[in-house]
Amino acid sequence: MPGAIYAEGLVKTFGDVRALDGVDLDVPEGTVLGLLGPNGAGKTTAVRCLTTLLTPDSGKAVVAGIDVLKHPNEVRRSIGLSGQFAAVDEYLTGRENLQMVGQLYQMKAKEAKARASELLERFNLADAADRTSKTYSGGMRRRLDLAAALVVSPPVMFMDEPTTGLDPRNRLQLWEVIQELVAGGTTLLLTTQYLEEADHLAHDICVIDHGRVIARGTSDQLKAQTGGERVELVVHEREHMTPAAEILAGFGKGETTVEQHTRKLTVPVTGGAKLLAEVIRELDTRGIEIDDIGLRRPTLDDVFISLTGHVAEEKEDGNGSGAGAAKQSKRKKEADK
Ligand SMILES: Nc1ncnc2c1ncn2[C@@H]1O[C@H](COP(=O)(O)OP(=O)(O)OP(=O)(O)O)[C@@H](O)[C@H]1O
Ligand SMILES: [Mg+2]
Repeated sequence: MPGAIYAEGLVKTFGDVRALDGVDLDVPEGTVLGLLGPNGAGKTTAVRCLTTLLTPDSGKAVVAGIDVLKHPNEVRRSIGLSGQFAAVDEYLTGRENLQMVGQLYQMKAKEAKARASELLERFNLADAADRTSKTYSGGMRRRLDLAAALVVSPPVMFMDEPTTGLDPRNRLQLWEVIQELVAGGTTLLLTTQYLEEADHLAHDICVIDHGRVIARGTSDQLKAQTGGERVELVVHEREHMTPAAEILAGFGKGETTVEQHTRKLTVPVTGGAKLLAEVIRELDTRGIEIDDIGLRRPTLDDVFISLTGHVAEEKEDGNGSGAGAAKQSKRKKEADK
């Protein structure tokens, strides 16, 4: 039986861009799917197709047991959506925004009022509740938008980068809200650029790039797939980064990642502590002073880099330079297959 969110062969093109190029998803009821991918991978397009805001060119989508293409209105009644960009009415107060959503969903006025108060409290907006939301900061709008998506408790929720722009405290609080929702049986698809968020919240993770799913599994499965441990070291002198990278390349089982601004180098290895000792000896022989060195298990960041050739939080669009140039790993061929 397909899950609460199901997609098969979803394709969506915009002119020459194949934003979705045959995406399959299956999210069991009561679980969280983390959809990861670099900028422009197709995450928002997938969310929009599944929430009836866009019609795919081809493919099938079933949400809460309802065919999205055949019965979009019914799907809308069964889902909640918090989009990538907060959609609140600027001229209404926070409280009015939430009450309006309740009334749109045919709640009684009293019930809508109570629910609004509860959510304003929950999302740390009680103090600002009666100010027009155009006076809100970015993070406050984001929270109001999330609260609006939770006014009715739909069985299936979509959140597109819910915690982007939230400060650490508000992010942790949102995580709690999400965990409670899911404990209560809600099925959630969330997109994120924060891999620790997917690690923390998602039962399953789906990595997409160029509109295709390039990996899926639990966080542990993806990490195991990336294989081996990493030697991570920080050199003391910036000019030692190149010779250190050469040494690591000699020991590594994959490409060395270089982070210029922190003078940190990382390489996948096999051989554990013994190999670590050899690396240290070699660095010492070559007179390279190090501030820190260690062996660690792969993180979801490593998975992401090895799959897509990007670090997750790096922005590809816009002013473009920066971290991309600091990194030597290249987009792997698998990603383009
Ligand atoms: N309405 C549109 N018209 C033209 N191209 C579009 C449109 N929407 C999306 N695209 C293109 O489709 C691709 C996927 O975009 P999408 O917004 O789904 O990416 P994303 O994974 O959500 O990225 P981000 O992390 O930056 O939010 C991009 O190349 C984008 O430029
Ligand atoms: Mg997006």
